[in-house]
Amino acid sequence: MDQATGMRHGSIELRLVRSRDARALQHELLANRSWLQPWEATVPYGAVSFDMRLSIRRLLQQYRDGGGYPFVMEYEGEVAGQLNVWGVARGSLCSATIGYWVSERFAGKGITPTAVALATDACFTEYGLHRMEICIRPENAASLRVVQKLGFRYEGLRRRYIHIDGDWRDHYAFALTREDVPQGVLARWLNGQVPPDAATVPPSDRLAL
Ligand SMILES: CC(C)(COP(=O)(O)OP(=O)(O)OC[C@H]1O[C@@H](n2cnc3c(N)ncnc32)[C@H](O)[C@@H]1OP(=O)(O)O)[C@@H](O)C(=O)NCCC(=O)NCCS
Repeated sequence: MDQATGMRHGSIELRLVRSRDARALQHELLANRSWLQPWEATVPYGAVSFDMRLSIRRLLQQYRDGGGYPFVMEYEGEVAGQLNVWGVARGSLCSATIGYWVSERFAGKGITPTAVALATDACFTEYGLHRMEICIRPENAASLRVVQKLGFRYEGLRRRYIHIDGDWRDHYAFALTREDVPQGVLARWLNGQVPPDAATVPPSDRLAL
């Protein structure tokens, strides 16, 4: 990735977060409380910080340490949200996990699936990763659409897996490996070659919501 320009498809750009994004991101986070809160990572002991300056500093330190790729998603030049590749494990795993959010006014424009495809393709072809995972609460229909569109494979139910919105929440895990997408995630989607049932949750794992 060219760090100055990032990656682009149409009106959607994915680039590394910068210190000077703090103000815009903080504004979006605070203006979208009810939209984001049900899906936001929290910590079991202590409060979540909205200090974006500090948060970006930590993300960039993790990036320099090789632990993650912290991106911002832009739509027509405006900051729309964040996409974080986190939990990078090297060695015999070469895997990572993606998390994301967009502000409500940017929802439904295909920004997130496009950005997830760009990030996963970069991770597989440029950053030496082999497996990308996305974990989603069963209640999060919009996020489940993202993995359905891109054909991430359903891999299982993880009970009380991530601390979200103040408690340990069950999650569905989805993943792709490099062999699943020889032509790339974005190209496979744009060419209409996504296997339709890859992300389908089997009846035995469907939770009563
Ligand atoms: C989940 C999320 C990132 C999806 O991003 P996006 O860029 O809107 O993705 P898409 O444009 O592909 O839309 C996905 C689905 O969202 C739903 N959606 C679309 N517009 C919407 C709106 N204005 N409000 C609510 N949901 C909407 C639709 O079901 C859509 O699927 P469709 O395209 O088949 O109709 C976004 O909804 C979000 O940020 N939600 C809050 C934070 C969150 O849930 N993060 C993910 C945690 S795993």
